Amino acid sequence: MNYPNFVKIIDVGARDGLQNEKQTVPSDVKIELINGLIDAGVRKLEATSFVSPKWVPQMADNDTVLNGIVKRDDVVYSVLTPNMKGFDAALAHRDQFANYEVVIFGSASEAFSQKNINCSIAESIERFAPVADAAKAHGIKVRGVISCTVGCPYEGDISPDKVAYVTEKLVAIGAQHIGIADTIGVGTPIKVQKALDAALRYIDIDNISGHFHDTYGQALSNTLAALQMGVWQFDTSVAGLGGCPYAKGATGSVATEDVVYLLHGMGIETGIDLDKLVDVGQKISAFLGRQDGSKVATAILNKRKSLTVS
Ligand code: HMG
Ligand code: MG
Repeated sequence: MNYPNFVKIIDVGARDGLQNEKQTVPSDVKIELINGLIDAGVRKLEATSFVSPKWVPQMADNDTVLNGIVKRDDVVYSVLTPNMKGFDAALAHRDQFANYEVVIFGSASEAFSQKNINCSIAESIERFAPVADAAKAHGIKVRGVISCTVGCPYEGDISPDKVAYVTEKLVAIGAQHIGIADTIGVGTPIKVQKALDAALRYIDIDNISGHFHDTYGQALSNTLAALQMGVWQFDTSVAGLGGCPYAKGATGSVATEDVVYLLHGMGIETGIDLDKLVDVGQKISAFLGRQDGSKVATAILNKRKSLTVS
C-alpha cells in the first residue's frame, strides 16, 4: 500500500465545530481557539462563515473573529460563502490574508440542500457561480464541499451518481477543490470510497478532501479508506467539536487529535504538535463544559495525570 508522506489537515473546529453550539461562544474564545490551532502547527483552517445570522447565529461575529486572529502567510484561512452577499462580506477581509479561500457548499441530496441553504441543488449552483467568478477575479481560491455524499438525514442512502453530478457542476463553475462530506457520519469504508470514486471522475486526487463526521464512530476507518485511495487532505475538528444545525443528531467531524495520532503512527507527517493540539482541544472543551470528544486526547490527558500522580 502506498501511503502519502504528508497529509494536510484542515481544522474545521472554529466553524463546523462551533456553529452548532446553543450558547453564544464569545469571539475572544474563538480567536484563542484559532490562534491555538495555528500555534500547534495547523496550516489550514475554517475560521468562520458568512451565512445568514438568522440561520446560524453563532457565526454572526465573523468580522470580529477574522480581525482578531493571528495572520500568517503560511496559513490558509477558509470561510464559508453560500452566496454573493456572503462573498461580498468575506471580500472585505481579503487583504488581511496572504492565503484566503472561500467555500461554496452544496449537497448531493435535494432535501438537505433545501434544509441547509434554502434552495434546490440546481439553484445552489446558480448562486455559487457568481461567487466562484468573483473569487477568481480577486485571486481567491474556491473550494466546493458536497454534503450528504453517502447518506442524508431526510433521504437515506445517496447514490454515488449524485456525488458525481454535483462534483461535475461545481468544477464546471470554477471550484478548484472538492470536499466529500459524510455529514451525518453514516458512511463505512466501501461506501465512502464509492463516493470518492464518483467525485474522482471530475476532479483529481490532489484536489479532493475527506470531511467525515463521526456520528457512528466510522470516521477514522473512513479516513484510512480514503488514504488508501491516495486522498491526502482531510477536514477534521479539534476535540471532535460540532455538527450541522440542519442535520439533527449528527456529531462533529472526526477529532483532529485522533487523525493526527493515526497518521503519525503510520509515519505520515502533518506538521502538527499533538501535545499542543490536545491542550487546545482541552481548553475549548472545558469552556463548553463538556468531555473532550477525542479518544486520543482523553488517553493523553489520562496519561499525563497518571505521570503527575506517580
Ligand atoms: P435565504 O433566506 O434563502 O436567503 O438564505 P435570501 O437571499 O432569501 O435572504 C433572506 C435574508 O437573509 C435577507 O435578509 C438577506 O440579506 C439575508 P433580510 O432582508 O430578511 O433581513 N442573507 C444573508 N445575511 C448574511 N449573510 C449571507 C446572507 N444571505 C442572505 N450570506 C442562506 C440562504 C444560504 C443565506 C441561508 O439558508 C443560510 O445562511 N443557511 C445556513 C447555511 C449554513 O451555514 N449551514 C451550516 C454550514 S454547512 C455544513 O455544516 C456542512 C459542511 O460541514 C459539510 C458537511 O458536513 O456536510 C460544510
Ligand atoms: Mg460538516
